[in-house]
Amino acid sequence: MDVNLTVNGSVHHLTIDVRMALLDVLRERLGLTGTKKGCDQGQCGACTVLIDGRRVLSCLVLAAAVEGGVTTIEGLSGEGAPLHPMQDAFLQCDAFQCGYCTPGQILSAIACVTEGHAGSEHEIREYMSGNLCRCAAYPNIVKAILQAKAKMQATAEDV
Ligand code: FES
Ligand code: FES
Repeated sequence: MDVNLTVNGSVHHLTIDVRMALLDVLRERLGLTGTKKGCDQGQCGACTVLIDGRRVLSCLVLAAAVEGGVTTIEGLSGEGAPLHPMQDAFLQCDAFQCGYCTPGQILSAIACVTEGHAGSEHEIREYMSGNLCRCAAYPNIVKAILQAKAKMQATAEDV
């Protein structure tokens, strides 16, 4: 099937198997390997991307069915450009160890803030519960989200 897929602001004209998940198209056809494959079953959140600002599990979405613009971790800041406040906060708060879950955590965290679900540590934990971290970096992930939220609100930053 021929599809036009908009990823990080660029339109890609692709011929794909209709059964391909968005995750596999991103990684294998577009070389965007920042989006990670963990469980491939919708259980871990490692594959989280944004479609028109809403978080989705790209392992569960058929690429041929995508409507709207996809944002991956590679689309948050260009080379040499400042980091997105959420990326910066994850670095400053040491909110990772191995880093495998981190791209999904960061995209999910941005949506958590823009959805208005980052009002308290408890609420953040609840609305980030779909993103698992085998290294258990959860306390610092929550700190990072609170820090980035303040900056995102101050600068009205959006993706
Ligand atoms: Fe998609 Fe785990 S790889 S949720
Ligand atoms: Fe290792 Fe989260 S930092 S899985």
